Amino acid sequence: MRVRISPGSRLRGSVSVPGDKSIAHRWLILAATGQGPSRLLGVPGSLDVRSTASCLASIAPQGRPGLQAWTENVAVAADGHGSTWNASPDDLPDTPLEVEGEGWSGLAEPDRSLDCGNSGTAMRLLAGVAAASAFRSVLSGDESLSARPMERVAEPLRAMGATVTTSDGHAPLTIDGGHLRGIEYATPVPTAQVKSAILLAGLTAEGSTAVREPAATRDHTEVALAALGATLERRDTTVTIEPFQHRGFDGRVPGDPSSAAFLVAAAALTGSELTITDVGLNPTRTHFLAVMERMGVRTEARVGRSELGEPVGELWVAPCDGLRATSVTQAELPLVIDEVPVLAMMATHGAGDTWFLGARELRVKESDRLAALGRGIADLGGQGGVEGDDLVVAGGGLAGGTAGADGDHRMAMAFVVAGLAAGAPVEVDGVEAADVSFPGFVPALVALGASIEVAG
Ligand code: S3P
Repeated sequence: MRVRISPGSRLRGSVSVPGDKSIAHRWLILAATGQGPSRLLGVPGSLDVRSTASCLASIAPQGRPGLQAWTENVAVAADGHGSTWNASPDDLPDTPLEVEGEGWSGLAEPDRSLDCGNSGTAMRLLAGVAAASAFRSVLSGDESLSARPMERVAEPLRAMGATVTTSDGHAPLTIDGGHLRGIEYATPVPTAQVKSAILLAGLTAEGSTAVREPAATRDHTEVALAALGATLERRDTTVTIEPFQHRGFDGRVPGDPSSAAFLVAAAALTGSELTITDVGLNPTRTHFLAVMERMGVRTEARVGRSELGEPVGELWVAPCDGLRATSVTQAELPLVIDEVPVLAMMATHGAGDTWFLGARELRVKESDRLAALGRGIADLGGQGGVEGDDLVVAGGGLAGGTAGADGDHRMAMAFVVAGLAAGAPVEVDGVEAADVSFPGFVPALVALGASIEVAG
């Protein structure tokens, strides 16, 4: 689907965003592996999260249909209402997800491969679950996911005692798990997915498991496990965990700050004031606000409550009257890894050159985002380019034009947002990719006052 964004509108109002997909993957896994009932609200119906739910349904204890029922309900609701065009996030049903866990040992061998769809988080976290489970699992994914590196998760799980085969370093993964031993492991690249896979596997291992990262990454797995009562120690960028079984929990998944980032950018680029409600404000996810502040965007994050250890609250964006250039260092990159596309599109409208240094990891996301940004900026009449592992984006504005999302949800949303401030209309092809993380993205912008229409 192609949309046409006409620049010049001002946004107004207050909006919520779908539940955080990173947190939802983790809570679903924890609910399915707990020993006792869990009840989750606010689990987003985004495609990635549905992948994790349906994989877990395939290994959940027979006769405990909560995960399956949720996945089916949400799929039916999404087909009727939840596509990018038909619903705003507030219209989507908030179906409670109830799981009657029987502990790690209650999981059962799946009778088909676990299809992780487009989701790297699903595949890497479920690899940890599969390694902990004394049966064979095969994890598969779509074309984009099958091109992403999987040795990074296979290697530590093998060191813990699982048998893991990859297809030349990629999915499908075949995992024979169970009887793990704890390890001390230093991840060569900072990645929360691999850290989380090891920590999840460590819950069933003999002895303690420690993961050291070269730079801090999002900590939702540690936060949830600590809130559930696990013995977990965090020192600098090392996390150590002891074997642990929880008894179930209740929680409402906070709104996704990475989705909120697109709306903050939209407000900044249109000089609008905006409030985003019920959004997750975990500091390992909100670093994009610090980068935006350096670019001249003033925001206020107000924490109102906590959900399973996660701070949740309101994010207010002040009207902005112009953007500056900045540099995002390699050390801070893991903390804004998912926000680089939108920050780069903001930078096209700033004054001067903005650098994203040491951004190699962007090449192995849902698409090669370094290449996609270079291409998209040129297609929209801006200037920028990739120099080695660095991305440089020239400010000065975008002339307008057509960019393609190429199946990458964050590229789709970044191009739409960029169009709000271009010199002439922008068209974005493949905008339905937004459903992977933010069903209702375009309607949410339209409801706030953006001028966006279907162009074919
Ligand atoms: C995620 C971690 C990040 C991020 C992804 C979600 C997670 O990936 O890009 O969208 O939920 O752990 P890496 O851990 O591979 O950097």
